[in-house]
Amino acid sequence: MKKFSTAAACAAFLSVGVSAGAIHAQTAEVLHWWTSGSEQAALAEVRKAFEAKGGTWVDTPIAGGSNARAAAVNRMLGGDPAAVFQFSIGQQLRELADQGLLANVGKVADEENWDEKLPPLIVKAAKYDGNYIAAPINIHGENWMFYNKAVLEDAGIDVPTSWDDFIAAAEKLKAAGVTPIGLGGQPWQERIMFNSVLLGVGGREFYADLYSTLDDDLLESDTMHQVFETFAALKPFVDESSPGRNWNEATNMVIKGDAAFQFMGDWAKGEIIAAGIEPGTTVGCAFAPAVDTAYIMTVDAFAFSAMDGEDATPAQEKMAQVMLEPDVQIAFNMKKGSIPARLDVPSDSFDSCAQTAIKTLQDKKTHLVSTGLFGVPSAVSGAIDDSISNFWNSADMSPKEGQEQFHEAISYAK
Ligand code: GAL
Repeated sequence: MKKFSTAAACAAFLSVGVSAGAIHAQTAEVLHWWTSGSEQAALAEVRKAFEAKGGTWVDTPIAGGSNARAAAVNRMLGGDPAAVFQFSIGQQLRELADQGLLANVGKVADEENWDEKLPPLIVKAAKYDGNYIAAPINIHGENWMFYNKAVLEDAGIDVPTSWDDFIAAAEKLKAAGVTPIGLGGQPWQERIMFNSVLLGVGGREFYADLYSTLDDDLLESDTMHQVFETFAALKPFVDESSPGRNWNEATNMVIKGDAAFQFMGDWAKGEIIAAGIEPGTTVGCAFAPAVDTAYIMTVDAFAFSAMDGEDATPAQEKMAQVMLEPDVQIAFNMKKGSIPARLDVPSDSFDSCAQTAIKTLQDKKTHLVSTGLFGVPSAVSGAIDDSISNFWNSADMSPKEGQEQFHEAISYAK
């Protein structure tokens, strides 16, 4: 191999070094758990916009939200952080900021005036010590009920508006040989259905008071007992293959008519759209049965690891800026099944279910927060999921015992 002089070799190294640095400045590794068809299609819209602005996207998908979040944190603690990682805004992200693990994108947020463009609830949850620690990209609702219209019509069933009506409808469906509820038997999915029952039976004030105070009297209340009785009444309505099933497989059961209903966040609507179905046509959407109207929100976001030096900052700031561009907000959310985080994005191109969400959220009394990542500390969130899953999967725990172990788990965790 021809020997370079030292000077020539240094010049060559420096030129590569500079270009490598320039390339590195536009490169962002993105760690996320969006691995379903619609999640990948939605995220591709962000990637396309980021790359169109000169960014290089290094994709690190990890299936399962809890797996991806654990990987992101372990990599930060291990000194090999992913520059950008999916989380959701709320108390659990603040816990990472408390540990000094996050960079902030306050410069972009100020330049783009996010304070004026985002709902106050999101502004408050996405900021830490006055700076944005995440780029909120959407608003999802968890208390949705998706249903196969033909299955309901064949069984002579109207869309239920109370849990008593739902149970009567489910008994009729089961007698007709139809699986009433398509459920993925994983703790977070069981919790989503439980919280729809809690909201539906207790009402939006009870939900808000319970999860904001974790008050013993509320946890021991007759209302809470009624919630566990109603939740227990749903057990006979899922099929025996439910345990371990992924959420999008349950959505597919409703799409195909193998199950009548799914109680899930409206990311399920993304799968319905990806299947080529206009939401509200063959697959309908409604809020889960409830005594009053409310929206249990979870806000997807991307946070930014604190990195050594400034090399990653330009790519992190570019990513934050791209995610909130109006065109990206529309393209991403239409495929994700969510609605834009930004208030000033035209919504007339969104489906009828999204229009219901947008209209509902205009009344601030409907604003509730998920116990997944948003509204409670991680220890309490884990206690809620685990104790509900224990109850759901127990063949002999009474509703009263379920309520007591739920109370005990939360009291221990809070
Ligand atoms: C949630 C997230 C949704 C969807 C869902 C299932 O945490 O907010 O966007 O990804 O997980 O993967």
